[in-house]
Amino acid sequence: MIDQSLEQLRADALAEIATAGDEGALELVRVKYLGRSGGIAAISDGMKSLSKDDKPRIGKLLNEVRNAVSAALDAGKSALLADADKAAFAGVDATLPGITQRLGTLHPITQLQDRAIQIFRRMGFALADGPDIETEFHCFDALNTPADHPARNEQDTFYFGDGRLLRTHTSTVQVRTMEKSAPPIRIIAPGAAYRRDEIDATHLAQFTQMEGLYVDEGVSVADLKGTLEFFFRELFGKDAKFRFRPHFFPFTEPSYEVDIKATALGSADRWLEIAGCGMVDPAVFESINARRNDHAFDPEKYTGFAFGFGLDRLAMIMSGVTDIRAFTDNDQRFLAQF
Ligand code: PHE
Repeated sequence: MIDQSLEQLRADALAEIATAGDEGALELVRVKYLGRSGGIAAISDGMKSLSKDDKPRIGKLLNEVRNAVSAALDAGKSALLADADKAAFAGVDATLPGITQRLGTLHPITQLQDRAIQIFRRMGFALADGPDIETEFHCFDALNTPADHPARNEQDTFYFGDGRLLRTHTSTVQVRTMEKSAPPIRIIAPGAAYRRDEIDATHLAQFTQMEGLYVDEGVSVADLKGTLEFFFRELFGKDAKFRFRPHFFPFTEPSYEVDIKATALGSADRWLEIAGCGMVDPAVFESINARRNDHAFDPEKYTGFAFGFGLDRLAMIMSGVTDIRAFTDNDQRFLAQF
């Protein structure tokens, strides 16, 4: 008798589970059969009145039915979830190729600039900044570059109608720093510089420069050479060889160009020019003093060195890039190599 009602209960439960259309319906079935006042609990309560002979058999069957209903409920729930997933993906072809997200990197010039800043920072140089659009004073006059100097030619520099211009070097930042603060000064000024050059494999109308200035008592050519050699050895390796070749700049005296021979870079038999530098011309200090209306940069008391180099050119030498235009072409095949 009780066997029959258990079998019936199992058959009913499984049938109802099979037709339950959503999770709510399944839950109702669960309560109806497995709940505290459900069908199985009722039979379970009736176990007490069974004979010793029947008890083990019915007990075993009861467990079987409970497990079967419970398993069917779990399976039903999984099937419903799978159906829901399938519905969500209906019409989506998961085998189509995806949209690749390409991870970008910093531009090679930016990477080199960051590295250069790190190296100079270790030597106590602070970062200084200034505008790209400049006055003639900051770009030329303050730097002992008189009006008849060829660098000021209309053909060499980008002028605005009002006489302002795009800075031809970031030496302008050195001038602005000296206007604002007194010695000691130890700064680097990275940034864009502009020249009216014919664009070719080694020239752009806009390039990236880094200039430096150190003014204090007793600053000497030895300090200049030591600083630049340390910097370039950090970049090019310990075995790089340097040559300071006498040169002329209006704003430094004496002036040098720095050449490098870096075997590791395959330039073993060739000197490559990489920087300009020199001791700040006292005339520069005097024009700053006149502008400041004081004598903060007393040429009898202070000396200083200045240097400048093009980051594009350094990056070309370091990476074996033969055409400077590659840095501005925005070709991912090129940029992705850095
Ligand atoms: N301003 C120079 C240039 O742009 C570089 C330079 C800086 C040279 C400082 C000497 C001293 O070419």
